[in-house]
Amino acid sequence: MSPSVEMIVTSGTFSLDGGTWEVDNNVYLIGDDSEVLVIDPAHDHQAILETIGDRKVAGIICTHGHDDHIGQAVAVAEMTGAPISLHPKDLMLWDVVHPGVIPNELSEGQVLEVAGLVVKVLHTPGHSPGGVCLHLPELEVLISGDTLFQGGPGATGRSFSDFQTILDSIREQILTLPSGTKVLPGHGGETTVDDESKDYHAWVTRGR
Ligand SMILES: [Fe+2]
Repeated sequence: MSPSVEMIVTSGTFSLDGGTWEVDNNVYLIGDDSEVLVIDPAHDHQAILETIGDRKVAGIICTHGHDDHIGQAVAVAEMTGAPISLHPKDLMLWDVVHPGVIPNELSEGQVLEVAGLVVKVLHTPGHSPGGVCLHLPELEVLISGDTLFQGGPGATGRSFSDFQTILDSIREQILTLPSGTKVLPGHGGETTVDDESKDYHAWVTRGR
């Protein structure tokens, strides 16, 4: 199998600011027959481990620190021996879920590699301060976490979020990518840079 991105959907809850909501999360595996990176191991570590199979897990990457996206990171790490990485500006969210576990730090421009693929870390704050996207230039794919969805920016109405900041991140870090880039978000269906860029000014006007 040539290097690619696989997706599985897991179901559970997201809690923040005293509220709890039912959510389906997209969990991505980047890699080939021999090794993968696991992106946002949410809700169901058994389903994730079954999809990984006997492949080596080179790393576990959290696009941000919300409890749905990071919930199974430690379970998958313990069962595979893989290191966990998160942008340090989301450690205050991480520590609520996994106190005493210290992830490695992701940084803007960092380049990861798996199965011969380049995976570039883009810091895209706004949904949360330490939000990141992962750009795979060879596959023309962006894994966008909760920064950009089919239909617009991620939610910015709760703690640690900021609408103007997410607009700046999307405009500067995502809409500057090749227009055909496929966007794979943390929830829901895929989109493209070109499709979303057409609506940028409508988001600015609607203010969310
Ligand atoms: Fe989120």
